[in-house]
Amino acid sequence: MTRSFPEGFLWGAATAAYQVEGAATEDGRGPSIWDTYSHTPGRTLNGDTGDVAADHYHRWVDDLGHLSELGLGAYRFSISWPRVQPGGSGAFNRAGVDFYSRLVDGLLERGIRPVATLYHWDLPQELEDAGGWPERDTALRFRDYAAGIVGALGDRVHTWTTFNEPWCSAYLGYGSGVHAPGRTEPAGALAAVHHLNLAHGLAGRAVRELAPAAELSVTLNLHVIRPASDSAADADAVRRIDALANRSFLGPMLGGAYPADLIADTVKVTDWSFVRDGDERAAGVPLDVLGVNYYSTTLVRAWDGTSARSAADGHGSSAHTPWVGAANVDFLPQPGPYTAMGWNIDPSGMTELLLRLSREHPGQPLMITENGAAFDDVVSPDGRVHDDRRVDYLYRHVDAVGAAMDAGADVRGYFAWSLLDNFEWSYGYDRRFGIIRVDYDTQARTWKDSAHWYRGLVATGRLEPPAGS
Ligand code: FCB
Repeated sequence: MTRSFPEGFLWGAATAAYQVEGAATEDGRGPSIWDTYSHTPGRTLNGDTGDVAADHYHRWVDDLGHLSELGLGAYRFSISWPRVQPGGSGAFNRAGVDFYSRLVDGLLERGIRPVATLYHWDLPQELEDAGGWPERDTALRFRDYAAGIVGALGDRVHTWTTFNEPWCSAYLGYGSGVHAPGRTEPAGALAAVHHLNLAHGLAGRAVRELAPAAELSVTLNLHVIRPASDSAADADAVRRIDALANRSFLGPMLGGAYPADLIADTVKVTDWSFVRDGDERAAGVPLDVLGVNYYSTTLVRAWDGTSARSAADGHGSSAHTPWVGAANVDFLPQPGPYTAMGWNIDPSGMTELLLRLSREHPGQPLMITENGAAFDDVVSPDGRVHDDRRVDYLYRHVDAVGAAMDAGADVRGYFAWSLLDNFEWSYGYDRRFGIIRVDYDTQARTWKDSAHWYRGLVATGRLEPPAGS
């Protein structure tokens, strides 16, 4: 069916600093945990690193040209903390700050809203050496970094987003170790959860003070968790994973408190003594918009430890689980189709998630800050990339956003992940999410069919089924 999005609905595309910029040692940038991790043998597919990535640091003017030609109203990018404050504390690096200042001005000149994320996973290595996110001091350093960069760029940035997917930083970085810094310490993962929440609140207040005209946001990768059966045991498995995946952030950030069941479920892992009086309230700060990243769903069952375990949670394989304190839950493979990440394609999860958030957090505006798909793209003899499956994925998910809006969800915009093919973390350059192809030998950019399709949608606000859907 055809549907029309309201006037003013924001269409954008997203990237993240370490995934696109390259220039890892240029102009005073310091090392981050992702530099260290990707340079450690065996950590990333093919040993890929973000040293060069999509060379956006040098090609940003051209890349802004692509945003303009796409007709986008907003660009979501992240600021590399080690580029602007190399050691994670103390002096700021003028050249790094200037890069983002030029980028922001370039966006404004083109009529594109800058939507900046303060932290998309690239912690300065020095702070990790001092203990990383399991240490409280990291939250205080983050507040100072936020104050410094927000002070410099101010409300030229339309929306300041504190964190991208803190779930990944905490549980993949310190639990399963499939993300930097690659530690596998269950108690450390929960301490990281808390210090990310605290840092969000502290930095959020700094944004309010220093850029009062800007909007404040955070982006979460909320999980849509479904039970394998209608048994009470499987319902309880859903509850446990919901606590770890979703409510461990939604609780403090939107409600000012951790859910009691989360604390109870994890008492064997930690006593939560790292939460000090006043911290939970400090983590809560009113948000102009809550960013939602959605890709696929999660299927769980209660596990008694006797049958074979699937552990198919879509978050990479490791001997260690990110789901700390939930050893009695199993993650089941799901019906296809799948993307090249092995993630199941299920647009109904998008609608379900948006409606749940609307119900549980009434009055909270929402924004899809990431949605997209990796497929094994092929360059055709005509030089084009006919990525029909990506077009179909985007069409179905934008349609699912529209369905949620019809049912009352207050969704303000949608960002495609990603503007460009880029460094997909542990999967390196092997997984391509861009609507624009990057040839990593020449750095040439080529619009895939999905980019042409997206431009049409953005121009009219009318979503039409693509041929073949
Ligand atoms: C999200 C990340 C983003 C990208 C997509 C595919 O978890 O925020 O950087 O890797 O997944």
